[in-house]
Parts: sequence; structure tokens; C-alpha cells
Amino acid sequence: MKVIMLVLLGMLAGCTPDKSAPTPSSSASTETPADPVAVAQPVSGHIAPKLSEIPEGPFGDSVRRGAAIFFDTPGKAANFVGNSQSCSNCHMGGGRVADSGPMWAAWGMYPAYRKKNNHVNTMEERLQGCFTFSQNAPASASGAAPPKGDPVLVDLQAYIFWLAKDVPIGKEMPGRGFPTPKKPATGYSVERGKVVFDAQCALCHGAEGQGLRTSADHQQFPPLWGPESYNWGAGMHRVNTAAGFIKANMPLGKADLSDQEAWDVAAYINSKPRPKDPRQVGSLEDNDQKNHDEDCLYGDSHEGKTLGVGVSRAL
Ligand code: HEC
Ligand code: HEC
Repeated sequence: MKVIMLVLLGMLAGCTPDKSAPTPSSSASTETPADPVAVAQPVSGHIAPKLSEIPEGPFGDSVRRGAAIFFDTPGKAANFVGNSQSCSNCHMGGGRVADSGPMWAAWGMYPAYRKKNNHVNTMEERLQGCFTFSQNAPASASGAAPPKGDPVLVDLQAYIFWLAKDVPIGKEMPGRGFPTPKKPATGYSVERGKVVFDAQCALCHGAEGQGLRTSADHQQFPPLWGPESYNWGAGMHRVNTAAGFIKANMPLGKADLSDQEAWDVAAYINSKPRPKDPRQVGSLEDNDQKNHDEDCLYGDSHEGKTLGVGVSRAL
């Protein structure tokens, strides 16, 4: 059980904007985002430094810009983001919290072979993958992830490197990734997942999974499906991965779902429309065969529709 304490009463009492959440303003590009004060880090392999400890000077400035991109990706890396997601939506506490895809546990594990693209990936290429899938870069202004060497990738790497200070290279750290709860013996059910969603998630994420935007540049709660969400190629579209994230983190502030509920609601979210898998070049069936040999609903028939067709932003 992890302990995440969040100052949530105001949010739970009606989803009023949470003043304690990190909300970097879009003014100065090297402004330090506020530390996510509300998130107490669970015991893990590493306690990442606080954002307020970022050093002065050119390296610190790059770390600060990287942090700002991490917390407000659509605002600070606009050319390469085709949805309303920020890195920090899925990598909790700005990539600091164990069991929530912490950045400090990732840094020393690259370059690494990835089955997803069948070659060895540098951290830079790994980050490009986040843009292509989780940030749906194909729908962005540039139509693609940042090119290698782009300042966005340099600054993100400076931030991730800085978070990993003193973490050994090549050591699988406890707390890495999103640990998946055991798959229930009877599998999972989209129908039961809807019941969980309506009761425990819709309050913040909206009855239609649309999230809540409180102003043009502030996404209070991220959308979970539809054109503003992650696409059909993102890690979160896998039911096991989403179940792991949800079990560890959701409902925000009181992550107390049973394993069964986490799997069911993960399946429900991932039975909904979202942007197309950028890897699909031919038919959906071919792409299903080629790229979806995993625990996901891509290519399945659901409520008379084939999942994975893809939805886009209105032009
Ligand atoms: C919609 C949720 C989501 C968003 C948004 C997102 N990620 Fe991720 N990220 C994941 C998931 C899930 C994984 C687990 C990897 C997998 O299995 O695909 C992951 C993996 C990673 C990893 C590798 C971790 C490791 O231990 O090897 C890095 C690094 C990373 N993300 C960085 C980022 C950055 C930087 C951004 C923003 C530009 C970002 N992510 C946006 C969900 C997300
Ligand atoms: C109190 C409000 C609240 C509740 C209730 C809540 N969430 Fe979240 N959720 C958030 C916030 C805020 C984030 C982004 C994390 C951050 O910025 O720290 C998030 C992020 C997520 C993400 C990853 C981001 C993305 O867009 O994919 C998923 C998946 C998710 N929530 C699913 C759920 C599920 C399932 C439930 C119900 C079991 C739930 N949430 C209940 C506030 C909430």
C-alpha cells in the first residue's frame, strides 16, 4: 500500500480548482514550477530532490524548463502535443512518485532494447515515443514528436537526469514503472467497470471522460478518452498498465480500489474511443495483428463498433 496524501477536500467537495496543484504559469520559460506539495512520497528506492532545490546557472535553467514542460506539456511543448495531456498526468508528482512511472528510476535504464520498436532506444528516443503516443503528436502543429536534439528533449532529459541524482546506473530500482495488480481469475468486465467509473471517477474526469478545463491554459482533470486523450498506441491503452496506474493512484487522494475494480475500470476506459494508433498504415486488422499482441481491447467488437478506429479533434 502506498501512502499518497493529497489536499483534496476542496476538490472532492465539488471539483473547485485546487490551488495546491502545480500550475506553472506560461510567462517566464525558466520559472520553477511549484513543488507538488500535496503529494507525500511513499517509501521507495529513492527520494528525488525538491523542485525548489534546482541549482542556479545554465544547467539549472534547463532543468527548470524541463520541469515546466513536464507539468504543462501542451503549453510548453505546444508544437509537439496533439491532446490535453501533460507528462505529470500519468507520472505522478512530476515524475517523482514511486510506482507511478518515476523518472528517476528510468534514467539509468537507458539505452535499452524495446520490443515496441525492436531496437535499442536511447532516453531521447524513448521520450520521442511518449510524444508520439501518450501526447498524440501526430495531431500536433508539427505533426510529429520533437526531432532529436530539439531543446524540448534536451530540457526534459536535464530534468530527468537531475531527478535521478545518486541513483545507480543500470540498477532496476524498487518503485519503477506501474506495478500491475494480479489479473483476477475471472478476468475483467467493461460493464462492471462502468459502474466503478460512474461512482468513483466521473466526479473529476466527467461523465463522458472529457476531464475538466478551468481556463484556456489550465486542465484541472485530464480527459480519459476522446480526441484529447492518449492514443491507441500509448502504454496506458493496455488494460494491465492502466489497472496498475489506477490501483496505485486513483481515485486521486484515496487510491483504495480492489484489484478487480482496478482491472474493470481500466477496461471500461480503454473500451472508449480515442485517437488512432499512429503505427496503423494498412488496415486496422493488420495493425491489430502486428502491434497489439497484449492485454488490450484494440480490434475487438464492442457495442456494434470495432475499437481502435480513432477519433480526431474537430478542425
Ligand atoms: C497518458 C499517460 C502518459 C503520459 C501523458 C506520458 N506518459 Fe510516460 N509512460 C506512460 C506509461 C503507461 C509508461 C509505461 C511504459 C509502457 O509500458 O509503455 C510510460 C513510460 C515512460 C518512460 C519510461 C519509464 C521507464 O521506467 O522505463 C519515460 C521516460 C516516460 N514515460 C516519460 C514521459 C514524458 C517525458 C512524458 C511527457 C512528454 C510522458 N512520459 C507522458 C504513460 C504516460
Ligand atoms: C479527485 C479527483 C479525481 C478522481 C475522483 C479520479 N481522478 Fe483520475 N486523475 C485526477 C488527476 C488530477 C489526474 C492527473 C494527475 C496529476 O496531475 O497529478 C488524474 C489522472 C488519471 C489518469 C491518467 C491520466 C490520463 O489522462 O490517462 C487516469 C487513467 C485516471 N486518472 C483514471 C481515474 C479513474 C479510473 C478514477 C476512478 C477510479 C479516477 N481517475 C478518479 C483526478 C481524479
